[in-house]
Amino acid sequence: MDKNCAVILAGGEGTRMHSQKPKVMAELLFKPMIDHVLAAARKAGVDDICVITGYQAPILEAHLAGRAATVRQTERLGTGHAVMQAVDYLRAGDFENVLILNGDAPFMDSSTIADALAYHERRGFVQTVISARIEEPYGYGRIVRDFNGDFVAIVEEASADKETKKINEINSGAMWFKKDALLYLLSRITNENSKGEYYLTDTVGIAVSEKMRVGAYTAKNADAVLGANTRVQLNELNELLRHKILNRLMLSGVSIPCTDGVIIDNDAVIGPDTVILPGTIIKEGCEIGENCVIGPGTVLYKTKVANGSTLNQVQAEEAVVGENARLGPFVHLRPNTVIGNSVHCGNFVEVKNSTVGDHTSVSHLTYVGDSDVGKGVNFGCGVVTVNFNGKTKNRCVIGDDAFIGCNTNLIAPVRVGDRAYTAAGSTITEEVPDDALAIARNRQQNKPGWVIRRKPYRDKKY
Ligand code: UD1
Ligand code: CA
Repeated sequence: MDKNCAVILAGGEGTRMHSQKPKVMAELLFKPMIDHVLAAARKAGVDDICVITGYQAPILEAHLAGRAATVRQTERLGTGHAVMQAVDYLRAGDFENVLILNGDAPFMDSSTIADALAYHERRGFVQTVISARIEEPYGYGRIVRDFNGDFVAIVEEASADKETKKINEINSGAMWFKKDALLYLLSRITNENSKGEYYLTDTVGIAVSEKMRVGAYTAKNADAVLGANTRVQLNELNELLRHKILNRLMLSGVSIPCTDGVIIDNDAVIGPDTVILPGTIIKEGCEIGENCVIGPGTVLYKTKVANGSTLNQVQAEEAVVGENARLGPFVHLRPNTVIGNSVHCGNFVEVKNSTVGDHTSVSHLTYVGDSDVGKGVNFGCGVVTVNFNGKTKNRCVIGDDAFIGCNTNLIAPVRVGDRAYTAAGSTITEEVPDDALAIARNRQQNKPGWVIRRKPYRDKKY
């Protein structure tokens, strides 16, 4: 089977964003617009991708390294000129069709792309433009059809007369070409227009005048054409995408009683009867089971949570949480943390690079770092695993059913045995055997009458 490829136009500055970054790096739900476009192309089955960079090219090149080929457009002379930069890339590959995408149109979706390709191939077109009917066509290239309804040209806003401006079928900027036709048409476009730019859209008129077969495929999803020129419009796109995702989740059984501040990545998997409360942000790579309560104020990234767990005011990155865990308020799970079933972590507890066994309770003001904690362990208030000596990180091992007294410091590397106790206020530097009690603090001395003799206070005025 012949291969297809995509060329994504991403050289523009996006002046009205007032940014030091390329426009396509502006984020939609925490992901640069270009990543949404790449994902749509890939999902539509196009894996060979070349991105045209320009404004602040090194930033984009670094971002895309290893994921797409890039070619720099050193001067921005229009969309046609941008595609011309990919001529060597196109010639070098064994491609049948070429998909052109605008890097600043993050709503273009894989089904629209795939449906347009099917239409393109079925009709034997050399060029198929993805169009959309929208209410406010201002600023877009208009799809001009003849009296038969056949597509004959795209006319840009700057060149449109009064009648043409009324047309509300517009060019999305995405289009399929037969590769050979594209290479030929690129050689024919000129910059003879009011802006002095090489318009990719001029290819349609040229193809028609040479009796080549072109078509316009009207997207069923008119949102596919949406883009943002300002950060106000970017906010509108964020809101639109946010609600699309939340609505899909609600329709699949997730409760979101109030959507305020709830932002969920499109890839999130969330089970039915789970409740998401306000101020919760679920970033990429998260899986949440059934019957959980997530939020308020919870932020998750690449984190898995099993059924029945509650995460109230939790921040978790690259963590795994078992079933029926109760976490929060104010818990921080840092990368490589595995929390077992029915674990409780209470306020101001931080866990990093550690495993915590089932039924363990870490209720207050505690740091567990680089540790392997058994099952049924109880941490008193204010326990610290002292995992860093200034040079190296070391691990603490805490056996099943151990009891770590309040304000214990465990100086790693150290092991506390199964069922062992540490007395409150101990600084543990040596192994505590199974079933032992370790007391590592000074014995208390009382000095009777010391205050009366020494009068250490100032005279009180109240
Ligand atoms: C373009 C289309 C218009 C269409 C609209 C859809 C042309 C001439 N016009 O207009 O018909 O309705 O998209 O959004 O094609 N770019 C480069 N190098 C350049 C110029 C642009 O890489 O020299 C990139 C931009 O970064 C952007 C894309 O091409 O990602 C589109 O360019 P833009 O200037 O936004 O075109 P529009 O005026 O929106
Ligand atoms: Ca644009």
